[in-house]
Amino acid sequence: MNHKNSILIVGASRGLGLALAEEFCTRGWHVIATVRSPSPALADLKKRFPATLQEEQVDIANEASVRALRDRLDGHRLDMLFVNAGIAKSITSSASTAPERDFVDMMLVNAFSPMRFIELFESLVAPHGTIGAMSSELGSITNNGGFWDLYASTKAALNMLMKCFASRRPDDRRAILVVAPGWIKTDMGGDEATYTIEETIPLLVDMLEKNHGRPGLRYVDRFDNTLPW
Ligand SMILES: NC(=O)c1ccc[n+]([C@@H]2O[C@H](COP(=O)([O-])OP(=O)(O)OC[C@H]3O[C@@H](n4cnc5c(N)ncnc54)[C@H](OP(=O)(O)O)[C@@H]3O)[C@@H](O)[C@H]2O)c1
Repeated sequence: MNHKNSILIVGASRGLGLALAEEFCTRGWHVIATVRSPSPALADLKKRFPATLQEEQVDIANEASVRALRDRLDGHRLDMLFVNAGIAKSITSSASTAPERDFVDMMLVNAFSPMRFIELFESLVAPHGTIGAMSSELGSITNNGGFWDLYASTKAALNMLMKCFASRRPDDRRAILVVAPGWIKTDMGGDEATYTIEETIPLLVDMLEKNHGRPGLRYVDRFDNTLPW
């Protein structure tokens, strides 16, 4: 029997995560897609791929919810784990104008929670599998252009946590990917964004499949270009 590759996509109710789930289903992967609350769009996708799409519930900012999902998935073997979930608040503000809570929320959801999730789920990922997190071009300190300061800081923090994670596992044979998708028209990206979901997602999945099985940490965009930290 042929082995079907499996991926857990965290944050697949809408936007890039939903589109990633659709693209991986289309390419024949078994997809476990998570939502925080029922997503009509993911339910529609499930009708198209009833045998290969599995829906799960998790709020990555809630430790009990994360541990409950870990218990439910115990014994599963994942070829790829991809944490897509993220939020953006006070995008045009800076430290002197934003509510503190917005920054704390973003740090929790964009940096701390993806890392906690990956640490708790890494033992499910195959020895030559892939662990990925959705970062952003804005997470590059080198390339910083003074946009979305607070959000960008939380993605830079995610990048650092991923680098620490990889550095502590020098013998790990898995691909560890920190992904910058481009500026995409979604609820977060807004209508002004440069690219559409339709033109971006196939490139992103090409890049993920290409890196699958290639050991080591990389901060990459959808064209598989390496970005400076
Ligand atoms: N769009 C862009 O231009 C762009 C550029 C660079 C990076 N990114 C990154 O790409 C990822 C997806 O962005 P998007 O544009 O698709 O955003 P989006 O349309 O706002 O979708 C965000 C997704 O994250 C989920 N999520 C948020 N908080 C969560 C939590 N605590 N637990 C579990 N899931 C949670 C949302 O679920 P709910 O529906 O329950 O809220 C939703 O599925 C994010 O990490 C974002 O930072 C986006």
